[in-house]
Amino acid sequence: MTSSPSPILVTGGAGFIGANFVLQWIAETGTPLVNLDKLTYAGNLANLASVAGDARHVFVQGDIGDAALVAKLLAEHRPCAVVNFAAESHVDRSIHGAGEFIQTNVLGTFRLLESVRHYWQALPAGEKDAFRFLHVSTDEVYGSLGPADPAFTERHNYRPNSPYSASKAGSDHLVRAWHHTYGLPVLTTNCSNNYGPFQFPEKLIPLVILNAMQGKPLPVYGDGQNVRDWLFVTDHCAAIRTVLARGSPGEVYNIGGDCERANLDVVRAICRALDEFLPGSAHRPHERLIAFVPDRPGHDRRYAIDTSKVKRELGWQPAVTFEQGLKQTVRWYLDHEQWVRGVQSGEYRNWIAANYTQRQKAS
Ligand code: NAD
Ligand code: DAU
Repeated sequence: MTSSPSPILVTGGAGFIGANFVLQWIAETGTPLVNLDKLTYAGNLANLASVAGDARHVFVQGDIGDAALVAKLLAEHRPCAVVNFAAESHVDRSIHGAGEFIQTNVLGTFRLLESVRHYWQALPAGEKDAFRFLHVSTDEVYGSLGPADPAFTERHNYRPNSPYSASKAGSDHLVRAWHHTYGLPVLTTNCSNNYGPFQFPEKLIPLVILNAMQGKPLPVYGDGQNVRDWLFVTDHCAAIRTVLARGSPGEVYNIGGDCERANLDVVRAICRALDEFLPGSAHRPHERLIAFVPDRPGHDRRYAIDTSKVKRELGWQPAVTFEQGLKQTVRWYLDHEQWVRGVQSGEYRNWIAANYTQRQKAS
């Protein structure tokens, strides 16, 4: 008799990276997964439409901080790993109001760790040894780099500068402590900026694609020279799978695209792609829509990731270049009008009014 493989429990799997991870996992492994997501404004079941009828994907709406629900899911499904994507993720929103960031990223992670610890401690020896808790975090916990500073390694001091990055730093510290104190076999990944299909258009790349398609201004904060290290989302998902399979418990792995770009260059590249894809558009050349707006308070100047550890120890490396990934992303947004209409309704409009109207008034 063959027994079916144990599932993994994914949290936040209806968001941008989580949904891409779920789709990749289902396509490339034979293992089922349980997807726990609160469905905040950023969670979207349309991202998971292609696996809606797949028995390997069990979706549960709920909060990582709901200890009773998480305990029930763990007891019922007996996962061999938990991958924690669930978070409030947008820096500008954290500046407008940090409460939800502390609630989910700090308290939610704490409650999830406790639920998982109780489950893990009661597992039989073999399953206990094999169990992993993978915490998905960000390069923003390391703070900001100067133009000539070396890229962030895993030994870089934590210096978070925004309410978002401070809340993620808090969660990373809790994860670390649960390993050192209780022996929970944790893995932490700190990744740079992701882009690709299903990203909520509050973030720079999808916001600029959709505004440009619709002939709206393309808001560039400050002088547009802040630098981010961009990674195509499926490469991040593959890195997480690699760390889950081969990472050493208690270790941290930095993940990035070796692809530093100034924001203004990213915006211009999107404009060029749209000029090419939409030769008949009344908004060509799309660069005309670029509008410099007042800066984000506390805006980190530069992020860069040193990926040598994950490459050397686990053999992961990105497969998609920025040029390929960006064109693929622009094409995806052009081809998914219905998805775009869905996410641009309701709450999205309130956010755009709150963040950008105020910025124009300040200038
Ligand atoms: P996202 O905002 O698109 O998705 C977050 C998901 O978490 C949503 O589906 C939301 O409904 C869910 N969620 C929020 N609070 C929850 C709660 N209390 N319980 C259960 N589910 C909850 O975020 P993303 O961009 O996909 O980021 C995913 C993770 O990766 C986050 O932890 C983020 O910090 C990290 N990260 C993101 C990037 C990036 O560039 N987007 C880069 C590095 C790390
Ligand atoms: O570095 C990883 C992080 O990347 C993740 O942890 C976060 O969850 C994710 O949101 C992202 O944070 P950023 O703040 O770097 O991403 P965002 O897309 O919001 O902004 C990218 C850059 O573009 C940043 O320098 C701010 C700038 N920007 C952003 C917006 C939304 C603009 O110039 N105009 C805009 O309208």
